[in-house]
Amino acid sequence: MDRILNRAKHIKGEINVSADKSISHRAIILSALANGDSQITNLLKAEDTDSTCRCFSQMGISIKQQGNKLAVSGKGLQGLKEPESILDCGNSGTTMRLLCGLLSGQQFFSVLAGDKSLSRRPMSRVIQPLRLMGAEITGRNNSKYAPLAIKGSKLHGISYQSPVASAQVKTALLLAGLNAEGATIISEKTPTRDHTERMLAAMGADLVVDSKEIRLYPGRDLEPQDFLVPGDISSAAFFLVLASIVPGSELMIRNVGINPTRDGIIEALKLMGAKLNIENQRVFGGETVADIVVSSAELKAVNIEGDMIPRLIDELPVLAVAMAAAQGRSTVKNAEELRVKETDRINAIVIELEKMGVDIIEQPDGFIVTGSRDNLKATEVDSWGDHRIAMSLAVAAQVCHGETKISNSQAVSISFPEFWDLLAQITS
Ligand code: S3P
Repeated sequence: MDRILNRAKHIKGEINVSADKSISHRAIILSALANGDSQITNLLKAEDTDSTCRCFSQMGISIKQQGNKLAVSGKGLQGLKEPESILDCGNSGTTMRLLCGLLSGQQFFSVLAGDKSLSRRPMSRVIQPLRLMGAEITGRNNSKYAPLAIKGSKLHGISYQSPVASAQVKTALLLAGLNAEGATIISEKTPTRDHTERMLAAMGADLVVDSKEIRLYPGRDLEPQDFLVPGDISSAAFFLVLASIVPGSELMIRNVGINPTRDGIIEALKLMGAKLNIENQRVFGGETVADIVVSSAELKAVNIEGDMIPRLIDELPVLAVAMAAAQGRSTVKNAEELRVKETDRINAIVIELEKMGVDIIEQPDGFIVTGSRDNLKATEVDSWGDHRIAMSLAVAAQVCHGETKISNSQAVSISFPEFWDLLAQITS
């Protein structure tokens, strides 16, 4: 579907963004594994989380909407039933990789499949360490890609450091570790999002986390919870950049999760001179949440690399838009992981921003942007079917003179179905 957007005069108002996608997936999965009924308030309702819910319904888990809550009847660590047909993970890498870990230790056969984009994403990063734990998984093209066939088996814990900084790999191993014999020990060269560790600890798992490693000892049942999902900082990021680059703007974004493993976008924008005020900071459901007030600012260039990358990996496409509107030469390095997301996001954002007249050069592990205020041209661009590319281009369109046409704009429903309505609500 095409969407036509015009330059914004300014951005004003107060919004709540959609619920955190990473936490929502984990809340569904861990609730299904708990001994009894959990409730999830403010679960993300989007295509990716629908995929996770559908997979668990197929494995005998009752998931019911009760008012504004989702009730999930957990069946315990070994209570899932063999699905009668393939588990369709749609576009969701998180669903596929996390289920790969969980299903390796369930005593039944299952097949995980996904859409065209997901079928091209690397799966050996989870399959290899899971095989070291005793998992029996095979996949297309020498077990590199989905569809994946899993024959549940008896697992044993391992000590592992992933060559890629990935919370999905870490979580897949922890989910496998819940049903393994002996401890599962994971160390990370660069810390990645830690929602799983926080949630498992709250549910009573035997888990020790220190600065060097995560150790999970099996044997304890998971206690059901009342989960409360905060707003997604990865969704808030589009509006943080938007209100920063459109002159005369002021926007309040309420209830945003600002977990320190996820708040790189706040740090990066502040380094660029953005005016962000973090207010009303509080902790709920084990996660720090705040309201963020953002007003427009003259942004300057910044260099982003190293340990910062996993803290803002999903926000890099929209950060490229901020860089395009900032004065000077910005760089992003060490972000090769962006090439194996829903699309090759380095290539996608470079090609689409170039169409808008941005001086952006593709690098193997990132990009170089020479920005200046008011240099973006309205034109026809494409989301490549990637939700975060669609929303990044929509932000860029707000500072272009004239009419921008975005094709495949429906992709936003993967993580943020209300994006277009919210954008219209605060734009004049
Ligand atoms: C996610 C981890 C990240 C992130 C993805 C969600 C998660 O992926 O990009 O959108 O929920 O664990 P990687 O684990 O591949 O870095």
